[in-house]
Amino acid sequence: MKYKGIIFDLDGVICHTDKYHYLAWKQLADKLGIYFDEKINNRLRGVSRMDSLEIILENYNGSLTATEKENYSEEKNNIYKRLLEDMSPSDLSKEVKDTLDQLKEDGLKLAIGSSSKNARYILEQLGLEGYFDAISDGNNIEKSKPDPEVFLKACEYLGLSPKECLVVEDAKSGLEAAIEGGMDQAAIGDAVYTQLATYDLATFSDLLKCIR
Ligand code: BG6
Ligand code: MG
Repeated sequence: MKYKGIIFDLDGVICHTDKYHYLAWKQLADKLGIYFDEKINNRLRGVSRMDSLEIILENYNGSLTATEKENYSEEKNNIYKRLLEDMSPSDLSKEVKDTLDQLKEDGLKLAIGSSSKNARYILEQLGLEGYFDAISDGNNIEKSKPDPEVFLKACEYLGLSPKECLVVEDAKSGLEAAIEGGMDQAAIGDAVYTQLATYDLATFSDLLKCIR
């Protein structure tokens, strides 16, 4: 095996919560009269909730106080969490689950490295509570991706060095974080177009080809 551990981004890699992020931000942007589309939404991948709001506000004709920003980001999160309530283990694809199971069988340690503060709730909804060997998420970091902190913490929780770990990401910010942190990276989804990663995955199960 080339690696001892694999660190997975959550939103857009293990599950498709990215569509719920879009819907929740869209609702808030519409309320504030701010232009927001899928292209702008793509820039929010991997970025923290507050930093995402700042990107959305680039198209706002006005200014908000720190308290207003706090309130709006909380409002978005409440909409988002209501959407997450409908998630269930059926939202975890068989391909993803089978691949994860195979990696575990191969003796690899598996971790989550996500900027989200809702990561544990999402894992519960998917029936993956207690499945990963370590979880590093938005609750244990100061700086979000592209800073490598979330992945370095995941390595630390796994008891492995960055060189022993592979990061799986769907976001440019996440690939940059892994590169900066000294880990190899596998890109999936739109992240393959960045041409930044060690490996480009056409589909999740391709991961099995990268580790041997
Ligand atoms: C990342 C998403 O996983 O989590 C971002 O890709 C999101 O779009 C970030 O902004 C923070 O998520 P949350 O759940 O803490 O608002
Ligand atoms: Mg992602």
